[in-house]
Amino acid sequence: SHRIMLGPLVAAIDQGTSSTRFLVFNSKTAELLSHHQVEIKQSFPKEGWVEEDPKEILQSVYECMERTCEKLTQLNIDISNIKAIGVTNQRETTLVWDKETGEPLYNAIVWLDLRTQSTVERLINKTPGRNKNHLKHKTGLPISTYFSAVKLRWLMDNVDEVHKAVVSHRAMFGTVDSWLIWCLTGGKSGGVHCTDVTNASRTMLFNIHTMDWDPELCKYFGIPMEILPRVRSSSEIYGLMKSGALSGIPISGCLGDQSAALVGQMCFQDGQAKNTYGTGCFLLRNTGVKPVMSEHGLLTTVAYKLGRDKPACYALEGSVAIAGAVVRWLQDNLGIIGSSEELEKLAASVGTSYGCYFVPAFSGLYAPYWEPSARGIICGLTQFTNKSHLAFAALEAVCFQTREILDAMNQDSGIPLTQLQVDGGMTSNKLLMQLQADILCIPVVKPSMPETTALGAAMAAGAAEGVSVWSLNPEDLSEVTSEKFEPQINPEESEFRYARWKKAVEKSMNWET
Ligand code: G3P
Repeated sequence: SHRIMLGPLVAAIDQGTSSTRFLVFNSKTAELLSHHQVEIKQSFPKEGWVEEDPKEILQSVYECMERTCEKLTQLNIDISNIKAIGVTNQRETTLVWDKETGEPLYNAIVWLDLRTQSTVERLINKTPGRNKNHLKHKTGLPISTYFSAVKLRWLMDNVDEVHKAVVSHRAMFGTVDSWLIWCLTGGKSGGVHCTDVTNASRTMLFNIHTMDWDPELCKYFGIPMEILPRVRSSSEIYGLMKSGALSGIPISGCLGDQSAALVGQMCFQDGQAKNTYGTGCFLLRNTGVKPVMSEHGLLTTVAYKLGRDKPACYALEGSVAIAGAVVRWLQDNLGIIGSSEELEKLAASVGTSYGCYFVPAFSGLYAPYWEPSARGIICGLTQFTNKSHLAFAALEAVCFQTREILDAMNQDSGIPLTQLQVDGGMTSNKLLMQLQADILCIPVVKPSMPETTALGAAMAAGAAEGVSVWSLNPEDLSEVTSEKFEPQINPEESEFRYARWKKAVEKSMNWET
């Protein structure tokens, strides 16, 4: 049969909190040619605990790869044109496995998990002045349940298998990128144990100035350095695929998903920013080659380092734990919707929350508060309130949380953003996008190709030395076509609602006292 000539293709594994995807792009045009997606089960074994099965995660990657290859073959596209694979992933999620058996020693502890709350409180209480920013000068991060170090410590203290493997030098620690790359490059028979600088910067064990694991931080958390993966740049050949239809293809890009979205949105200039609506919601602003420390509750994180000899770029980040997760909660826990499309319809049918405010602080509150003891609240209810108002309030919560981190970002940088570039699954919700523009009082701009996270990882993989099918020269990067949402309500109305939201947030933090 007739094979279509496309030139080199690049692929990406996008392993998110809620689902795994494999996507294949044309490196000349950045066109998405084919993809496949598989949902990931989350388990909640105890209140506040969130786990995923490392083997299911790996299996979902293989399944997505196989199905995508089948789809490409059906389209008459030769899969041997795939020249490189990038990995992008949910960040901070913590795994430990046995390098001799290749077996995970516990479930993956998901970034949202709250089991380390008391450890975190104890650590903060021990610092001079009870300062949650005690390690920020090195890590860019506050001491929080969010980051990997405390989860890893929990595993070593509470899981016998992990403890035994550590003392007998058989343990390997990794975030999801490390686990996948190790398995895909051969696992127990020669797999490569590595991570990239962006993922490493989310562990709290990494010094963002020296760009390496920090012996003092490791000592502080009691983590033996031999279990850590080797830290590499975000764009270089880590190893080759060891099995399956894509065997022999280099894995040559690796970025945490929020960094990958920044690259995929082409935010390469100091001052450029994007907001991604996934399970959580993450606003990153590129600050160039200098790490900028926030005065307003944002994180300083490594944005990317696109090649061994390239400089590292940094970003300020505002992290919101619960965005898409609130939709899943309305669906699975309350059963008031059957799908996310239904949520949009329900909310649109009323067009207002009628004074109902919903703070989904299920995992405490992240930026700008960093308050692990906050819990979700719904307030402002009357006899009149119904599930449509609640649906509207849930969407509004995502927008208000973004407004809070945008305000912090503007205060930190002194140069307010005049529009917001967005991406991620929830951006297909037009009502949400309009609401976001209304609540921010600036336009919201959405690219026509929504898979920017995967695109960023594919670009990094294709640009790696030794692959070089993708140029990252700004002149060569095609202009992104986009859709724009302009604010439609007056700023006074927007301020009024935002002020109410702030009151609700206060209650979510103090409802116990
Ligand atoms: O820090 C967590 C983040 O990387 C998860 O992203 O897209 O799964 O919400 P997402």
